[in-house]
Amino acid sequence: MTSLAAKRQRAREIFSGARAVLSPMAGVTDRVFRELCRSFGADVTYCEFVSASGVLHGNPTTFDLMELGEDEHPVGIQLFGADPGLLAEAARAAEKVGPDLIDLNFGCPVKKVVKRNGGSALLADLPLMREIVEEVVQAVDLPVTAKIRIGWTYKQPNYMEVTQLLEEAGVCAITVHGRSRDQFFTGQANWQAIAEVVEAARIPVIGNGDVFSADDWLRMKEETGCETVMIARGAIGNPFIFEEIAARSEGRPYEPPDVARIVEVMVEHLDREIALKGAHTGMMRMRKHFSHYLKGRPKVAELRKRIYQETDRDAVVAILREYAHEQTRRAPSEEEA
Ligand SMILES: Cc1cc2nc3c(=O)[nH]c(=O)nc-3n(C[C@H](O)[C@H](O)[C@H](O)COP(=O)(O)O)c2cc1C
Repeated sequence: MTSLAAKRQRAREIFSGARAVLSPMAGVTDRVFRELCRSFGADVTYCEFVSASGVLHGNPTTFDLMELGEDEHPVGIQLFGADPGLLAEAARAAEKVGPDLIDLNFGCPVKKVVKRNGGSALLADLPLMREIVEEVVQAVDLPVTAKIRIGWTYKQPNYMEVTQLLEEAGVCAITVHGRSRDQFFTGQANWQAIAEVVEAARIPVIGNGDVFSADDWLRMKEETGCETVMIARGAIGNPFIFEEIAARSEGRPYEPPDVARIVEVMVEHLDREIALKGAHTGMMRMRKHFSHYLKGRPKVAELRKRIYQETDRDAVVAILREYAHEQTRRAPSEEEA
């Protein structure tokens, strides 16, 4: 059994020096998207959350969500649930898949999860949270990390108490999304709260919430002192954010991608999905990413409609390239007009 000191040392190695971390995101951070973000400079990635019961029942969809790439390290598998024994057993099973970290979800605000006392509901049941963490930490050799919101309610945040509890119970790093459960995604993430956790914690703290550019990334690091920054929405349809951050961290100038480059990355994304999942599933999985890549650009709804009618990879690629060509041709004449 690996000692807590050794697990904490390993977590330190993973997070110190990591420029940015890709957040766990349900329906988004599948293996292909994680590998793509890594190729752009994400230093650590997480699979989307999986339920402890799904893992224990050997649910194929759950195991599909935990599928890891051969060179995909360091990567974390995130579990949610509310039963300490089941979570411990699920963590043991997840460990066998080969991740570097087991993460516990104490932040998910959605009803389906909290009504079964999982996710952020545990912020309102600290004795149960403690039991869960202690059992999971005991069960696995990997470092266990936790991802929290700042409290169940905005008016009564309890992140300091939670931080202390998590540390005492054996968590090796903590991600703080600076919102309460009742805020869902509204308002602004409270970075001051993250700074307070950084000040108090003796384990690495990963800051999370509202980072959409390298400027935000730098500001979060400076304002909170966090070890590294976790990015969710800012990476959807935008793996480029990680290269922008890499450039900033090395003091290099950065040129944002033009539409032609975005389309080539979309094609790469599509081809990776197809290579992994076959033509039909690969195409379906890529669909939800398409419009995010081209958000805010002209005629995207029309483009999406055309793409959704196609089942053939080459036809989709031809439509995308034609779009890029058209947009590139248009740009100067629009400026001139
Ligand atoms: C589509 C979507 C799916 C998410 N799924 C998860 C998840 O599975 N586990 C988790 O801990 N957080 C999940 N989150 C929350 C994010 O990881 C992150 O904490 C939150 O979006 C704040 O970060 P951001 O401002 O960079 O988006 C999800 C967020 C989004 C937008």
